[in-house]
Amino acid sequence: MNNVITISKLIRPFKKTIYIDGDKSLSIRWALLASQADGKSRSVNLLKSEDVLNTLNCLKQLGIKTRISKKYCEIIGNGLNGFNYTKKLILDAGNSGTLARLILGLLVHSKNIIKLKGDKSLSRRDFLRVTKPLKNFGAHFKTKSGKLPIIIEGTNSPKPTKYFERKGSAQCKSSVMLAALNTEGTTIIKAKKSRNHTELLFKHLGIPIKINQKKKYDLIKIKGIKKIKPFNYNIPSDISSGAFFLVLTALSKNSKLVIKNTNINPSRIGILKILKLMGIKVNIKKPKYYKGEKVADILIESQKNINPINCPKNLNSYAIDEFLLIFLVAAKARGISHFKDLAELNQKESPRLIWGSRILNKMGIKTSLTKDSIKIFGNPNLKITKKIVIKNFLKDHRVFMASVIAALTFGGNWKIHDKDSINTSFPSFLKIIKKLDRSVG
Ligand code: S3P
Repeated sequence: MNNVITISKLIRPFKKTIYIDGDKSLSIRWALLASQADGKSRSVNLLKSEDVLNTLNCLKQLGIKTRISKKYCEIIGNGLNGFNYTKKLILDAGNSGTLARLILGLLVHSKNIIKLKGDKSLSRRDFLRVTKPLKNFGAHFKTKSGKLPIIIEGTNSPKPTKYFERKGSAQCKSSVMLAALNTEGTTIIKAKKSRNHTELLFKHLGIPIKINQKKKYDLIKIKGIKKIKPFNYNIPSDISSGAFFLVLTALSKNSKLVIKNTNINPSRIGILKILKLMGIKVNIKKPKYYKGEKVADILIESQKNINPINCPKNLNSYAIDEFLLIFLVAAKARGISHFKDLAELNQKESPRLIWGSRILNKMGIKTSLTKDSIKIFGNPNLKITKKIVIKNFLKDHRVFMASVIAALTFGGNWKIHDKDSINTSFPSFLKIIKKLDRSVG
């Protein structure tokens, strides 16, 4: 397969309704929690991307039966702490930080020693942020400078802990929540606001959880339990995948798009709020609740005049996966945009704050970059005519897809490497682009 895409013309105007792949955060959480239930759980519209398939593979190795067909995925849970496996197990989380960090929470109770590894990108990411709080339950972790691979030695007498999550990381919070599930007593987590899918799933499953919402933090108390019931789940579309098409529409000429049945959990819609602040028309239609999660259709139209933004910091963790796209919108704004307190972006699949700046610079947009902030000097009249090559980005799926959106909306002759990176989170990405304009790619 040719793993490079070349794009040398703008996307043609479109007016379409599309469906996006299932939500990645919910797919991984459903699978991990279903593995802890007593009996058969079923999901519809599970995301079939590498991150989720790696989750199912890890569960299989841990003795959990999984069945996947075109429509459904079934997991036959073995109950809490019911993993059943041979010694010297090596689990491979591939590219997925969510899988690696969340499964560590469940492995606090592991009976035998397990090694957890990941790909090149995941192996440069920080795991001390989860092994530190998880150690307090009584488990042991061996790691070289807090990176993968990690050797895990679980405990059969875990102790509840107190944990202060300061980064706004849902992965860290969720990892500790999963460890608390099967730990007798009350675990207390004070967590900077971040996506709350795990909390909503715990509530749906009747797990004793109390959440006291403060302005900047949530105080979460979880009582350990002995059993959870199997549960079915209809997974809505992923707004982080939909975001590529929201921005594609916003930056295209005379276009309109409806994205159906998308998760619009308030802790995930930073992108919608930021687009609105930048003067882009976004509308929500047919909102409804599903098992605590808000789901709706999203309507968006292309926009000629885009305002610069001094991005409110409290939206950062609610838009954390969308900043490469938001930076593209800022590139087209009339004036200077400023994004602060974003050190976490460099902790992703690639150093994304740096990559965001690099892509804009290649396009001819001036930026001023620090360790945790970026100023973008927007140019609404930018027309690119030169050659742009995007490569060596640690196969970061979002760098690839954001570059495709830039190529289709700003012009120039682009060569973007590592096309297969889309399989991490959004295998249908290029197919949907082709639905909007058959001549692309
Ligand atoms: C995720 C949380 C975020 C996000 C990632 C998915 C999750 O990471 O970037 O894509 O499902 O919990 P952090 O928790 O590290 O911010």
